[in-house]
Amino acid sequence: MAKTPEKPFLTDVMMLRRRAREHIMEGAVTPGYTADRETVVKLLNEALATEIVCVLRYKRHSLMAEGIAADAVKAEFLQHANEEQQHADQIAARIVQLNGEPNLNPEGLTSRSHAEYVEGEDLIDMIKEDLVAERIAIDSYREMINYIGDKDTTTKRMLEGILAMEEEHADDLVGLLEKMDK
Ligand SMILES: [Fe+2]
Ligand SMILES: [Fe+2]
Repeated sequence: MAKTPEKPFLTDVMMLRRRAREHIMEGAVTPGYTADRETVVKLLNEALATEIVCVLRYKRHSLMAEGIAADAVKAEFLQHANEEQQHADQIAARIVQLNGEPNLNPEGLTSRSHAEYVEGEDLIDMIKEDLVAERIAIDSYREMINYIGDKDTTTKRMLEGILAMEEEHADDLVGLLEKMDK
């Protein structure tokens, strides 16, 4: 018995080729990009501000950590600072790919950021502030991922990778607090 031809799942090649030629200067943003690009760029700029604030806070904490457990904690803070910087770089690069502009203006940085810049009084206080910031980042990345859904899989995949690392950071910080019996 002859099989009924199935409706093609993919856009046919001719159509894809024609569409790719239109608006070529939009680069990675093709007509098949169905997310709201401006909103995605805006969300990514908020995430960028968050990451930069986190870099600064972790740097400050790694420089100011003092006390018996300070060496291990300093190293952890510095590692987190470097990883937040990598997130910031990834996010900024994606904004450019999406034909947006990364907002690196120091003015308004803390109000664009989801997480806060808190200096912290002592080692325990610093770790707790970092943990709060990580938990804020975790929730906001999760929301962004849900919002973007399958409309921009590249951005979604990047955010999923970052989210996984923020979860690791939060877990590391809880581990530090447990070791210090707090
Ligand atoms: Fe991060
Ligand atoms: Fe983090």
